[in-house]
Amino acid sequence: MSTRFADKSVLITGGGSGIGRGIALAFAGEGARVAVAGRSLGPLAETVELIERAGGKAVALTGDVTNSEDAARLVREVVEQFGGLDVAVNNAGVFGAAGPVADIDEDQFRWVFEVNVTGTLLAMKHQIGHMRAHGGGAIVNVSSNLGVHKRADGAGAYNASKAAVTALTRSAARDHIGEGVRINTVSPGPVDTPMSTRPGESDTAKSDRMKAEVPVGRAGAVAEIAAAVLYLASDEAGYTVGADLVLDGGVTA
Ligand SMILES: NC(=O)c1ccc[n+]([C@@H]2O[C@H](COP(=O)([O-])OP(=O)(O)OC[C@H]3O[C@@H](n4cnc5c(N)ncnc54)[C@H](O)[C@@H]3O)[C@@H](O)[C@H]2O)c1
Repeated sequence: MSTRFADKSVLITGGGSGIGRGIALAFAGEGARVAVAGRSLGPLAETVELIERAGGKAVALTGDVTNSEDAARLVREVVEQFGGLDVAVNNAGVFGAAGPVADIDEDQFRWVFEVNVTGTLLAMKHQIGHMRAHGGGAIVNVSSNLGVHKRADGAGAYNASKAAVTALTRSAARDHIGEGVRINTVSPGPVDTPMSTRPGESDTAKSDRMKAEVPVGRAGAVAEIAAAVLYLASDEAGYTVGADLVLDGGVTA
């Protein structure tokens, strides 16, 4: 077992499914103590069970990233359970309803921004607050190749929210690197989770669409995104500050 993160304490939001679960498994596999956070305990407990079965250490913590008190409590609980917080991955996110801008449901737009942008802000605010007072740390935010690098038609809320996540990350990176907190984003293209499946799309139709749209001919694997997150969180990435690492199989190359 690689021990790049031995004895490190890692908090991952949205850790009960998809990319977040894969990131949690990857950190635990390299020796980290992992806290997975999200709104409902069931899926988080499944992630914990997978990690423990593989010999790793993990806890499940419930909290909604749009709530500042929850975001603060998550940091407190990780510190209580593991004695510190070295790495945070802000992965929780939603796509929202699709539709052209003039027809966007305003409540959906506000919700997508609330989770993706305000949620990332609140998480970082409390994580940085702890890290800068305790010797620093690393934060990786999960953005998307949609927004800054590419746009999906009919997904104005998501595109704009992820552009905001990337911009906010760059600001945070500059604001806090002097305090020892190193912050970056990963921007995946379509990844093999339900979020990249269109409503009603079959597996075959999705696979054909990926062959047509993605130069490598497939959706990204969760493990491929996790590997990049671990790199950015590791000491090897010590000179990488405010970067936006695009992992999209060549879509925007
Ligand atoms: N799957 C893709 O193709 C793709 C591509 C680019 C970026 N992303 C991003 O990757 C991240 C993970 O996506 P995924 O594909 O694993 O989808 P997912 O729906 O499985 O994961 C999102 C997670 O966020 C959690 N979440 C949502 N709202 C929350 C809230 N208010 N508080 C706490 N947790 C909340 C969900 O419960 C879920 O566990 C998202 O930020 C997404 O935008 C996904």
